[in-house]
Amino acid sequence: MLIDKLNWRYATKKMDSSKTVPEDKVERILEAARLAPTSSGLQPYEIIVVTNPDIRARIQEAANGQAQITEGSHLLVFAAWDNYTPERINSMFDLVNEERGFTNEGWENYRKMLLGLYPPRDAQTNYEHAARQAYIGFGLAITAAAFEEVDATPMEGFNPEAVDEILGLRERGLRSVTLLPLGYRESSGDWLVNLKKVRRAKEDFVTEVH
Ligand SMILES: Cc1cc2nc3c(=O)[nH]c(=O)nc-3n(C[C@H](O)[C@H](O)[C@H](O)COP(=O)(O)O)c2cc1C
Repeated sequence: MLIDKLNWRYATKKMDSSKTVPEDKVERILEAARLAPTSSGLQPYEIIVVTNPDIRARIQEAANGQAQITEGSHLLVFAAWDNYTPERINSMFDLVNEERGFTNEGWENYRKMLLGLYPPRDAQTNYEHAARQAYIGFGLAITAAAFEEVDATPMEGFNPEAVDEILGLRERGLRSVTLLPLGYRESSGDWLVNLKKVRRAKEDFVTEVH
């Protein structure tokens, strides 16, 4: 059951550097993120999969030395578009038309509406909107990792400008949003592994309106 796996997962603090996540599991975790819904279907972010140890060591330095980045076998970097441009919006609308094999007036009017709305806004507002979409894929990747019984640590504790620099993201019109190291827990060295998972009670979290 998914809920059992979500109870099993935790923000792993220590990973076993002798273990490697199999590629088929990594592929399914990435596929879950690719299938994530996004506002208007724009998918305004990409995922960079870093296995290179030297680059991961540099990213670790930019992330307060968090060890999971190098102890895990793969590091996923979620990077959002730095802005919405007409080219980016058009390329997604064109892809939909190409893949579905037809054009539709309502859809084309929606394209015009977005073209009139997003590109004139300031880049920071657009980046923040894109970053919110990246978080949805991030959440699905965290869930998929748990489903695959792969450990993962969601991370915001890093210097995004430094990570952008290390990976050359700004040149590609991208800005790093979150990190997700993947690996396997090293239970003997992890202070968090046996601590109770703490969440607010359902009554304090869910309001039912009948
Ligand atoms: C967006 C986000 C950013 C986080 N950043 C970090 C981080 O930089 N380092 C870390 O060790 N944990 C980080 N966490 C993990 C949270 O502290 C953790 O998910 C939360 O305390 C709940 O615990 P659990 O995930 O073990 O159930 C982050 C979690 C999220 C969702």
